Amino acid sequence: MSPPPRSHLRRMLAYLRPHRALLGIAIGCMGLYAVFHALSILLMKPILDNIFFTTAGPLTFTIPYVNWSFGFPDRMKFLAFVSAAIVLTYFTKSISSFGQEYLMTWVGMRILQRLRNQLFEKYTRMPLEFLEGERAGKLLSVSLNDVGLVYSSTVRLVTDVILQPFVILFLVLLALTLVPPVLSVASFVVLPFIAGLITYFGRKMKRATTGAQVKIEDLTQVLSEKVAGMKIVRIFGQEETERAKFERESEGYFHWSMKQAKISSLSGPLMVFLGGLGVSVAVYYGGYLVVTQAITTGSFGAFVTAVISIYRPIKSLTNLNNSYQQGAAAAERIFAFLDVPDAPDPDVGQPARFEREMSFHQVQFTYNGTEAPVLKNVDLSIRKGEHVAFVGVSGIGKTTLLMLIPRLLEPTGGEIRLDGVPLPEISPRTLRRLMAAVVQEVVLFNDTVGANIQYGRPGAGMAEVEAAARAADAHEFIQALPQKYETVIGDRGSKLSGGQRQRIAIARAFLKNAPILILDEATSNLDSESEREVQNAVERLASGRTTLVVAHRLSTIRRCDRIYVLRDGRILDAGAHEELMSRCEAYRTTVSLQSL
Ligand SMILES: Nc1ncnc2c1ncn2[C@@H]1O[C@H](COP(=O)(O)OP(=O)(O)O)[C@@H](O)[C@H]1O
Ligand SMILES: [Mg+2]
Repeated sequence: MSPPPRSHLRRMLAYLRPHRALLGIAIGCMGLYAVFHALSILLMKPILDNIFFTTAGPLTFTIPYVNWSFGFPDRMKFLAFVSAAIVLTYFTKSISSFGQEYLMTWVGMRILQRLRNQLFEKYTRMPLEFLEGERAGKLLSVSLNDVGLVYSSTVRLVTDVILQPFVILFLVLLALTLVPPVLSVASFVVLPFIAGLITYFGRKMKRATTGAQVKIEDLTQVLSEKVAGMKIVRIFGQEETERAKFERESEGYFHWSMKQAKISSLSGPLMVFLGGLGVSVAVYYGGYLVVTQAITTGSFGAFVTAVISIYRPIKSLTNLNNSYQQGAAAAERIFAFLDVPDAPDPDVGQPARFEREMSFHQVQFTYNGTEAPVLKNVDLSIRKGEHVAFVGVSGIGKTTLLMLIPRLLEPTGGEIRLDGVPLPEISPRTLRRLMAAVVQEVVLFNDTVGANIQYGRPGAGMAEVEAAARAADAHEFIQALPQKYETVIGDRGSKLSGGQRQRIAIARAFLKNAPILILDEATSNLDSESEREVQNAVERLASGRTTLVVAHRLSTIRRCDRIYVLRDGRILDAGAHEELMSRCEAYRTTVSLQSL
């Protein structure tokens, strides 16, 4: 993985800015925690010196650096003081730890929420073409996993960057007051080695983890593809090849897993051993100082504890780069989405009017990231109230052409005009108000039947919804549903049949009551019986509206005022059914091929 650009770090930090005040309090909590952590270790000194070993020194407790001293007349009072101090110290540690963690989570969650909302907003604004070009899995993974990763790495990063140095600083400061500096230095001398080792192992571990992850993805791929295609595997006699392939991937996974195991089972003990070296230096030299009475037993005990407690923050700090890399990579994927330029603002432009005609002038269209244009130069003109059809083989560009009209796609050349006004000058929102569409893949949301119809005109009353459903021949079957219009139709309308879904979509279009109707293979997915049920509703919907239709049924097409034959990115011919049958070879072929 190449290092993410620094600008991403700055951009991630910008998300923290609105929460400066809370971050300030959280940092305060971290400082408090570090101080009281060191104090709690310092309390070992009087316990050892004055409670367990009576010989040592006067009955005082001094906080170094600030030199606050407390003196006591007898050991019982001192004991009471130390116990109370322990309670106070741990209480403060707990409170500040809670405050720090709660506030950091709050800030992190707010950032997560903001990123997720921004992403969803972007999905509502980015060019549709881009959105459809992405795999749905990727969109989900960015919105869920990557945002989560940014959350955890932000919280961990900020916490570790600030808290751990605090903790280390106060532990070192404490150590320096307990024993001669030379001993502190000697005991801490192993720390850089430990840090180096952690980094080294971390890097190796990352490589092994990535390797294992890739292998598990390969295995999943082989499994899902080959098990599903087992029929083909056997017919073609490829069982042995596939088995060998699978076993090879399997072996690869074993290899990387064992690498991981070797690293993780080696790094722990090695680290403990190195830490042990540090402690042994502390014990040997510190013990010598105790024996020669240069320091007290209490100083020695507190010092060794401080040496041992410094190990954890060091480890967190060395892992910092890992969480940074993870978060930055996720941020990069998120920002890549957020930086997609918006589609034209739906509210910019003059209000749409459609009184006379819609026309295409040398319209071209090429999908983003592809070479060949789907539409090369399309010229056509449709007068208000006309019914026109588009025919041509699958993949020729009929759907693409229709999507240009509500500006769900923008032409890459030429111009579409409505009453002579170029579409880019018209506000997309008002333009889309003029249109309703019924397409092959009906989109229904997991809501009630009523709400799904109402999507055509939010705010429409129940009576209007019902009238639309009647017009679409949907009222009857809706009445037969368990909760009628209040029935929740399940994910994508899965509880309804294809014909029922289609009639709900038609009711939605009826409710919208728009002057232009786009029908893109509205009945193509249906069996012939459902198709007949839907056909009447479609015809009723189309009557009195300017209608652009792509259909496979000859009866639908031949009734149209004009039929456009699409071929090779152009309008090859246009005319009524009979005209085309007599003069257009391509049309005759299409008719016979598609058995229109
Ligand atoms: N989002 C997309 N990105 C790239 N190419 C696309 C996209 N959508 C459709 N295409 C391609 O554009 C061509 C026309 O598709 P389409 O308009 O759906 O054809 P039709 O509706 O006539 O069957 C096809 O070759 C299709 O593969
Ligand atoms: Mg199509």
